[in-house]
Amino acid sequence: MIKFLLALILVAQVSGVCHVPQFVGCQAKFSDALGIDRNYNWLNPLGLTIQIQDIYINGGLGGIRGLNSVCNAYNQMIQCLTTSQTTASECFNIPWLLSHSEAPNRAYSYGFLMNMLQYQCGAGFYIASDNWKCLQNIYAKKNGTMFGCINDFVLNAYEDPARGCDYVQTGMNCFEAASTLSGCPDELKYYGCESFRQYSAPQFSRCHKSCQVDLSFR
Ligand SMILES: *[C@@H]1O[C@H](CO)[C@@H](O)[C@H](O)[C@H]1NC(C)=O
Repeated sequence: MIKFLLALILVAQVSGVCHVPQFVGCQAKFSDALGIDRNYNWLNPLGLTIQIQDIYINGGLGGIRGLNSVCNAYNQMIQCLTTSQTTASECFNIPWLLSHSEAPNRAYSYGFLMNMLQYQCGAGFYIASDNWKCLQNIYAKKNGTMFGCINDFVLNAYEDPARGCDYVQTGMNCFEAASTLSGCPDELKYYGCESFRQYSAPQFSRCHKSCQVDLSFR
């Protein structure tokens, strides 16, 4: 009997699933830290995407740099999930999101957004931070274009998943082209391309796309 119980506990720990109340609570903290309405959550991921772009452009609560505001809020959410008997990878898992969302589009675009933030607040953080004035201007001037790259990708990949890898490439090109501005370093094109590649990765890592660093960049 004891052995059976131990086995049961072990299974429960190994096959962790996302717990909805904790997930919702951690997302509420995320919105609060960003100073946005709590309705911008996993059920409204494209709305949340626009809110994050707006913060990149206009700054966060108290006028702090948009990148700092978004990344601090994101890191707090990850920590919140990790300390509440669930983890970010369980809650951002596409199959789990699909089985708990009203529409597949929303499940995907939430998982996409969180993966892009993981890049922008992780490996991509210092490129962005070191060039924030440029990136902030890029987001301001190309806001509509960049949201268009994302929205088109989400719709097209959903309607025609067989051509998903083509849409990934289109999106990477779209973000790369948008991430240029006169007076700004070419390395931001790489940041734009990689941000989009990371965006698409939860569904399309099988496409094995890659972004090129401009060889003339030193
Ligand atoms: C950015 O574009 C989106 C989508 O078109 C729009 O809803 C939002 O208000 C724009 N934000 C800014 C700061 O221009």
